[in-house]
Amino acid sequence: MMGWRRFRFRLSFSMSNYSRFTLLLLLAMILDYAGAAPRWVEHASIPGPDTPETGQSRFDDLFLLGSGRYQIPYPFSNLVESLESRIDNAGKPGVRLTFIPMGRSLQRDAPAPDYFKFSRAVIALEGEPVTAGNAAGEVLEYRLFIAHQPKTETLEIISYNDAVGRFEFQVIEKYGPNLSPQVRRANRIMCLSCHQNAAPIFAMRPWSETSFNVEIANKLVSAQPQKYDSLIDVVSADAGVIDLLTERANYLAAAQFIWQRGCQTRRCRVALLRAILQYRLSGESSFDSNHPDYRQDYFNELTRNWETRWPEGLALANSRVADRDPFATGPASLEQDPLFLRPAHATWYRVDPILARGIVYRLSGYLTLADVQRIDRHMIELSDDPSTPIQKFRASCRFEDQANQTRILNCGNATTPESLQARFSIEYQQGNLDSIRIMKLQIPLDANLMQPKIRQLSRLQRGVKAELEHETTNLAQRLANGDRIKSLVLLGNDPLLSGKISLEVEVAEEFRLVDQALSSLLEKNQQALGDSAFRRKTIVRELALALGMKPMDWREPPVAVSDIKETLSSNLGGELALLEPYCSHCHADTSVNPPGFLTGNEAGAKILQCAPRMLARLKAWQAETDFPASPMPPPAFLEFVGTTIEAWPKSAHYRRLVASLENMVRKNHQLLGTDYQHLPPCLARANE
Ligand code: HEC
Ligand code: HEC
Repeated sequence: MMGWRRFRFRLSFSMSNYSRFTLLLLLAMILDYAGAAPRWVEHASIPGPDTPETGQSRFDDLFLLGSGRYQIPYPFSNLVESLESRIDNAGKPGVRLTFIPMGRSLQRDAPAPDYFKFSRAVIALEGEPVTAGNAAGEVLEYRLFIAHQPKTETLEIISYNDAVGRFEFQVIEKYGPNLSPQVRRANRIMCLSCHQNAAPIFAMRPWSETSFNVEIANKLVSAQPQKYDSLIDVVSADAGVIDLLTERANYLAAAQFIWQRGCQTRRCRVALLRAILQYRLSGESSFDSNHPDYRQDYFNELTRNWETRWPEGLALANSRVADRDPFATGPASLEQDPLFLRPAHATWYRVDPILARGIVYRLSGYLTLADVQRIDRHMIELSDDPSTPIQKFRASCRFEDQANQTRILNCGNATTPESLQARFSIEYQQGNLDSIRIMKLQIPLDANLMQPKIRQLSRLQRGVKAELEHETTNLAQRLANGDRIKSLVLLGNDPLLSGKISLEVEVAEEFRLVDQALSSLLEKNQQALGDSAFRRKTIVRELALALGMKPMDWREPPVAVSDIKETLSSNLGGELALLEPYCSHCHADTSVNPPGFLTGNEAGAKILQCAPRMLARLKAWQAETDFPASPMPPPAFLEFVGTTIEAWPKSAHYRRLVASLENMVRKNHQLLGTDYQHLPPCLARANE
């Protein structure tokens, strides 16, 4: 089996017209044209602390037992099963899994040469948390991503920390039978050299490195015949789903950024929260974007803040890396290397109604369906009170045809736009009215077309009465403004609906209950609207309290103890001391990839061993080289140490570092000019 590194090496020579450095510079110009650049929402040069100031990852929420001990189901298939049991994805699997035997992740060389026997697996979650009784299951959908390398039994985890509103990066070693797994916070700045969006990344379609590629799947089946009977067990469309979940995860940072910095007053936040609740209560169909609070307190404030703070716009980092076919013979490109800078996924230049709505949609995903169902039911209970105002709408109806079994009934006048309109399909069985289906329903002052289900149908002396529910969510059928359609009555001469027929719809104005609760959040200066992250727990807890609901059974997970980072003691002297500021952020721990050449007392020996490769990766910064691997330090990292792509290769530090490594290599290795893959490996033990 040939390592992928060698593949890429051979292929990239076809790019010789431009050196990779020139392309990198071109890209930098595109990223930063005309000086005034958009503000990045996430950037590799602002990784934040490895240990979060507050809160912990979703993975810790689920598997931490307390005082640093974890209980992680083993083997990996049990971990998958345990996650599957926590999620309900409407009949489909909630854990989406794909294999990436020859990829571009940090683990890619670990299984060499048995890439297909020890294939990396990546999982992501989709669906609603399973919730029993009052227990409040946490949102799992696109909040937890796990990669497993079976040869080394390592897990890489990217999972959401609700308290800070960011993804945490973790690595788990000693994941195995009868072992106590060691979970550590990953070195964020290092992970972000590829995960430049501080979130999961994934290849674009057609995901050729994954088991969605039949060629890959075939090789997996033949490498592990005892495990897989057929291709069917391996090929799945999950790569596409994971790609989408990765993209959704990527929007979380932007939505949080706008909640915290674009919508800064409590009035703005309460107006945004109001829209979020309407949107979810309506079964994600709509919300009242014409309401003065939405327009003035949210939309206008966001617009004002945007114009002063981000006049050049906001850039969203990119979760998508170009696809790479591990078997292809065509040239490999710059954008296929995850270490290269990626242009923004999108740049939002100004606030418009679509952007403002988008934020409502994105933040609404922080609530679970169970949360919304509880609020929905509670409002219905409260509004049984006869003081709840009821609005009534009427229309007259006509059958479309004379057919006897199924008849279509039209109500209202389609030429009068803001009037009650409906269309029903009514089944008769042997002369009896058997069932009614609502094909269309439109309530005045609500532009939305609805197609609710009938929850309960009762016969009246003269007609039928229906109670409605939203098509798929078990929520009551509500208007965009959060009010509920209480009942729908079809009146005729008899229970069979003959003669003159009319429709009567009652709307209970019960969203005012939520409005009252929101005003009290505003008055009492509650945390939910404070300056921290948009956080489901705080928001739902305070809202439930203000609505007078029974408190939920929130199980507070044990909190992780922060791990102490190994301090390095390389004590490098002379020119090589420059390796500290530019390399030690990523090369000073015990990992194999990236190689820890600055660790331990034998750092000097390790540097000597790796020097030819270090030199090659540094020289990759020079305009005239056509070096196929990405330069070091990684482009995304440079701003973190206060330099830029343009300035670094011209700097004195750069030149001194190159000169001293050249010197070292000349004295100790007879290798200058050798192909990169034939240079000695960085760590003496690492490559067999
Ligand atoms: C050299 C580039 C690179 C670095 C550095 C890197 N990753 Fe990744 N990672 C990738 C690529 C490419 C993928 C997607 C394809 C795959 O999984 O093979 C990925 C995928 C993942 C996934 C699966 C979910 C997803 O994003 O698709 C996890 C989890 C993950 N990485 C964790 C980490 C952690 C933790 C670190 C830091 C210790 C890290 N990665 C550093 C390149 C990198
Ligand atoms: C921000 C993190 C970061 C910094 C800083 C950094 N590197 Fe790296 N380095 C990496 C990552 C990640 C990889 C692995 C890339 C991969 O697997 O594709 C790597 C790989 C390498 C390799 C390749 C090892 C091999 O086996 O071929 C060399 C050599 C290297 N780095 C040298 C350096 C030198 C020299 C510096 C300082 C001048 C430096 N790096 C600074 C992240 C970093």
